[in-house]
Amino acid sequence: MASSGNSPKILVTGGAGFIGSHTVVALVEAGFEPVIVDNFDNSQKSALDGLRAILGRDVICYDADCNDAPTMEAIFRDESFRGVIHFAAHKAVGESVAKPLKYYRNNLDSLMLLLDLMPKYNVPNLVFSSSCTVYGQPERLPVTEETPRRPAQSPYGNTKAISEDIIRDVVQANTPIKALALRYFNPVGAHPSALIGELPLGVPANLVPYLMQTAAGIRQNLTVHGNDYNTPDGTCIRDYIHVMDLAEAHVQAVNVLSKSSDERSYDVLNIGTGHGETVLHIIKTFEEATGVSLRYTIGPRRPGDVEQVYADVTKAQTVLGWTARRSLAESLRDAWRWQKKLSSNVVES
Ligand code: NAD
Ligand code: WQD
Repeated sequence: MASSGNSPKILVTGGAGFIGSHTVVALVEAGFEPVIVDNFDNSQKSALDGLRAILGRDVICYDADCNDAPTMEAIFRDESFRGVIHFAAHKAVGESVAKPLKYYRNNLDSLMLLLDLMPKYNVPNLVFSSSCTVYGQPERLPVTEETPRRPAQSPYGNTKAISEDIIRDVVQANTPIKALALRYFNPVGAHPSALIGELPLGVPANLVPYLMQTAAGIRQNLTVHGNDYNTPDGTCIRDYIHVMDLAEAHVQAVNVLSKSSDERSYDVLNIGTGHGETVLHIIKTFEEATGVSLRYTIGPRRPGDVEQVYADVTKAQTVLGWTARRSLAESLRDAWRWQKKLSSNVVES
C-alpha cells in the first residue's frame, strides 16, 4: 500500500500498542496517514515490523513520551495533523492501585498537553480511548451512554472518568476542539494476518490472553474466576469486541468529526458488540472454533470483578454509522493464530 503525500495525517499516540497498531492499519486502509508517537513502555518495536509487513511500507513513528512537552510541540510544529487519536496510557488496573500517581501523571498529563497543543496548532479533531470501566456494575443492562458513571473502582478507571471530564470542560470553555470519547468494552482478537496482535508483558491478567497462553502450553491451566454469579452459567458476562472492529470505529470517528461543521463538540459513545457472553461460553467457543481443548478449573471470584456488563450500541450505530461485524468465533480464531505465531517465534529464537 503506497503512501500518499496528500493523505490527511492523524497523530496516533500509543500507536505501537494493541489497539493503536490495529487502528494504524485501518487508518491507512481508509486513506489516512497515521503518525505514531509511542515510548514503547508497554509495546515492542516488532509491532512496527508487523505494520510494515501488512501495509507494504513504513509508518511514521516517533519514539517519544507523550508527556515530553518540547518534543510533542516540535512534532505538532513539523507535522500538520487533521486529528489526534489518543491511545497512550497505562492500563493495568491492579498496578494502578499500587502506584496511583504513575497512572494519574501519565494518563492525565498526556491528555492535557494534547489539549494545549491542538488549538495552538489548529488541530480540531480528538478521539479519546475511554473504557466501560467507568460504568462499574450498572443497575440496568445493556448500558447506554446515559447510564450513570460509578465512582471508579481503581485509579486507572478514575483516570478515564477524569479524562472525559477534562475534555468536556475544555470544549465547554470555547476551545475549538471536536472530541469523541469512545468507551471500549473488551477488545480481543488480532489482525487476521497474525502479523500484529496483543503483546501482554508478564502474566496476563485478562481472560483472552491468559486463555491463549494456556492453550499454547505457556500456562498450565486457566482459572475461571467464580461460577456463582447471577448469570445463566454462573460466570461473569462481558462484551468482547474484535480489535479490528474497534479499529474501524476509530476511523469512522475521525471521519465523522472531520465532516462535522461544529466548531466545538464533545460526545461519548459505547463501542462494543451489544452482546454479553459468559466466561464459559468464551471457552466453549474457543474450543469449537479452533479444535483445541483447554485445561481450566473453577476458582473463587476475583476481587473487584463486576458481574456483568455489555453495551447498548445504538448511539454508535447512529452517530458513526458503524457496527461490529466480526463474530466471537472469528475473534478467538484470530487471537489463536497470533498466539501460535508468537509461540513459534519463541521456539525459534
Ligand atoms: P497498550 O498498552 O497495548 O497500548 C498503549 C500504548 O501506549 C503502548 O504502546 C505504550 O507503550 C504507549 N504509551 C503509554 N504511555 C505512553 C507515553 N507517556 N508516551 C508514549 N507512549 C505511551 O494498550 P491498549 O490495550 O492498546 O489500550 C489503548 C488505550 O485503550 C488505552 O488508553 C487503554 O486505557 C484504553 N482501553 C483499553 C482496553 C483494553 O482492554 N485493552 C479497554 C478499554 C480502554
Ligand atoms: C473478563 C472476565 C474475569 C482472567 C478489564 C479491565 C477494564 C477494561 C477491560 C481497560 C472476568 C474472567 C479473567 C482469568 C477469568 N480495560 N477471567 N480468568 O475484568 O472485564 O476488565 O479489561 O479499560 O478496565 O479491568 O476483563 O479480561 O480481565 O476479565 O475467569 O484468568 O474473565 O473474572 O469475568 P475485565 P478481563
